[in-house]
Amino acid sequence: MNYFRSSLFFPVCLIILSLGAPLSYGDLAEELPMNLTYHNGALLTGSITVNFIWYGNFTASQKSVFTDFINSLSDGSVKKEPSVATWWKTLNKYYNNTGISFPTLTLGKQIDDNSYSHGDSLNISDILPIASSGQQQNAINVVMTSVDVGVEGFCISRCGLHGSGPDSSQNRFTYIWLGNSSTQCPGQCAWPFSQIDDGPSTAPLVPPNGEVGTDGMVVNLASLLAGTCTNPNGDGYFQGEPETPLEAATACPGIYGKRAFPGYAGDLLIDPATNASYNAYGVNNRLFLVPALFDLTVFGCATTV
Ligand SMILES: *[C@@H]1O[C@H](CO)[C@@H](O)[C@H](O)[C@H]1NC(C)=O
Ligand SMILES: *[C@@H]1O[C@H](CO)[C@@H](O)[C@H](O)[C@H]1NC(C)=O
Ligand SMILES: *[C@@H]1O[C@H](CO)[C@@H](O)[C@H](O)[C@H]1NC(C)=O
Ligand SMILES: *[C@@H]1O[C@H](CO)[C@@H](O)[C@H](O)[C@H]1NC(C)=O
Ligand SMILES: *[C@@H]1O[C@H](CO)[C@@H](O)[C@H](O)[C@H]1NC(C)=O
Ligand SMILES: *[C@@H]1O[C@H](CO)[C@@H](O)[C@H](O)[C@H]1NC(C)=O
Repeated sequence: MNYFRSSLFFPVCLIILSLGAPLSYGDLAEELPMNLTYHNGALLTGSITVNFIWYGNFTASQKSVFTDFINSLSDGSVKKEPSVATWWKTLNKYYNNTGISFPTLTLGKQIDDNSYSHGDSLNISDILPIASSGQQQNAINVVMTSVDVGVEGFCISRCGLHGSGPDSSQNRFTYIWLGNSSTQCPGQCAWPFSQIDDGPSTAPLVPPNGEVGTDGMVVNLASLLAGTCTNPNGDGYFQGEPETPLEAATACPGIYGKRAFPGYAGDLLIDPATNASYNAYGVNNRLFLVPALFDLTVFGCATTV
């Protein structure tokens, strides 16, 4: 296994193919020319429900940050730009010319697994069975582990992952795992809301939803959702080796606004009431930070601001 280590640690996603066995880990894009290509495989399409499996202790107000984010992806009622919905539509271009239509993501069911069904120290192989408790067709099942749950490789090599399962039939469903890094490794998995552990020392940004670990998870959720839709089974859009893919968002690590450079997230909007940094408006007057997405028409990273 190639563990991901870097002085600039950005959220990395790992893709798990059919059987849920990790192939290897993502890596930084530095050496590669920017060009994400389509490998002629599956893209998520149709009506997709995003189901949350809350593994561990989450309060209603914590959950609402994530459910509001999902509701913001397709909600046209948010009139302030840049909106989360406008950001999400950047991915429409990935579907153009493929004959596959852009999916509609809606909030599905929420399942509480607060009895820690697989314990509080999870192996990667535990994620798929936990994710399987959600709906298994036309679904993205998001396993959210609370701050007290350890997951193999969390912090060392990854902040979350996405994959598909359980088999190679048409009945695959997709899933995401995301951990709360608040106490375990905010410098790695909650940048830019936390100081980078081992990199340029820029002041951490004020998180728009009030908590470093939570807003860090939103950024990672956004990134993993983009990868899940455009590279669900490892044969969609990615750059590099299929085992270490750079996907729609991970091809643009650490970029959130114009003039971003390693250690600087870019020029963002600031909420005068709190000084929180954000770059997208969502439902319920929420403010979010969303990652840059690789824009196929300009061969570069597109930011909302
Ligand atoms: C990107 O890759 C595709 C497929 O390999 C190629 O056709 C295209 O010219 C490339 N574009 C750039 C800007 O490198
Ligand atoms: C989780 O919540 C339950 C019920 O509120 C509580 O008994 C338990 O101590 C909590 N566990 C942790 C690790 O916070
Ligand atoms: C697809 O490409 C065509 C031609 O460039 C363009 O008119 C159309 O708006 C594109 N659709 C999307 C969803 O990007
Ligand atoms: C988790 O993985 C470790 C190392 O691969 C192994 O020793 C351990 O038994 C596994 N734990 C469970 C609960 O499967
Ligand atoms: C993550 O953990 C921190 C520290 O316990 C807590 O303050 C925060 O609300 C948690 N966020 C979520 C989404 O659970
Ligand atoms: C926002 O930042 C400015 C400049 O640093 C400071 O004067 C102001 O008190 C801050 N406001 C809040 C709400 O923290």
